[in-house]
Amino acid sequence: MKALKPHLAELPVYPYEHHRAPIKLDQNESPYDLPAELKAELAERLRGLALNRYPEMNAESLVRQIAAFEGWPEEGVVVAAGSNVLLTALALAARRVLDLVPSFSLYKWSARITGTPWEGVPLGPEFELPTTALRVHLEDAEEPGVFFFPNPHAPTGRFWTPEAVRPLAEVAEKSGWIFVVDEAYYQFAPADFKRQAQELPGVVISRTFSKAWGLAGIRLGYFLTSPELATQVKKLLPPFRIPTPTAVAAELAMAHPGYLAEVVEKIRRERERVYLELKAHPVWKVYKSHTNFLLVRTPDAEAAFQGLLRKGVLVRRMDGQPGLEGCLRVTIGTPVENDAFLKAAFELGEESGAERQG
Ligand SMILES: Cc1ncc(COP(=O)(O)O)c(C=O)c1O
Repeated sequence: MKALKPHLAELPVYPYEHHRAPIKLDQNESPYDLPAELKAELAERLRGLALNRYPEMNAESLVRQIAAFEGWPEEGVVVAAGSNVLLTALALAARRVLDLVPSFSLYKWSARITGTPWEGVPLGPEFELPTTALRVHLEDAEEPGVFFFPNPHAPTGRFWTPEAVRPLAEVAEKSGWIFVVDEAYYQFAPADFKRQAQELPGVVISRTFSKAWGLAGIRLGYFLTSPELATQVKKLLPPFRIPTPTAVAAELAMAHPGYLAEVVEKIRRERERVYLELKAHPVWKVYKSHTNFLLVRTPDAEAAFQGLLRKGVLVRRMDGQPGLEGCLRVTIGTPVENDAFLKAAFELGEESGAERQG
């Protein structure tokens, strides 16, 4: 191990423990696969592909289609096999990483594996945005870096309006920071930051096909940013990086986006139903969300996680981060899956009530 940079030795592999359960609500995937007719069309197109050939160097056709779909200049679109590849690449290039605490754990992990200095600013007790502290950090840092800002926020589900975010983005821009608005869940929220980003060249909008599109399996994410910044990010990425079948699946989905609105509407409706029902839980606290998941605070995350797993429902523990003591994250599934989760959650509530009385 002497050949490797010393900081790597102390670091964990990205923390994800694999479990199996009949009801899988642990990765914020869509419960809905690509519609059957599109799947059939995809199979047909895959049959015709020359897999002995490399894909395009920078997935130019796919980039053109994303640019058209988003109404964004082609030169400002960068793609990779998952937005987390792009986020880690930025962490590698940046002089420092500014993060929220808690936040999507990949940001801190990316800073650590790339040896980039990391600083985190805590959210408020109800996950309020620490605007003043962030402003101070952005203005007073020795040198600028990249600020990762998920909106809607993961893993709390909070959403801040473009009007609330804009002053921070402006301070970041003035101080030379790259301000990444990670919009992995934007389809489930009331608004996004794309229009504002057009006026701020240091802003990066990060999006993915893994959530609302129901295409986590193809691994595709992209940045929308200024041509200058896009050029720098592309330098960090290997050529020919988008597998041909991935590009074909995404192009097909974008050419038939009709299913998206329907899926998003179903998931939003279910999210509100599960939220309202869970508010009546005798022990757990549920937080309002603008994503496809809910954050739930329990008295003991390990007990709640194992209790749900025994009842066949797999969720994600979130209690490792400061501010998320006792917390679990539950993806919104199909109505049947959500009912199974709610039933298990209320049974656990009753069991723990009976234990306390007994
Ligand atoms: C906030 C956030 N950003 C990015 C990602 C990663 O997306 P991708 O599948 O495109 O790598 C996730 C996945 O859970 C996420 O929660």
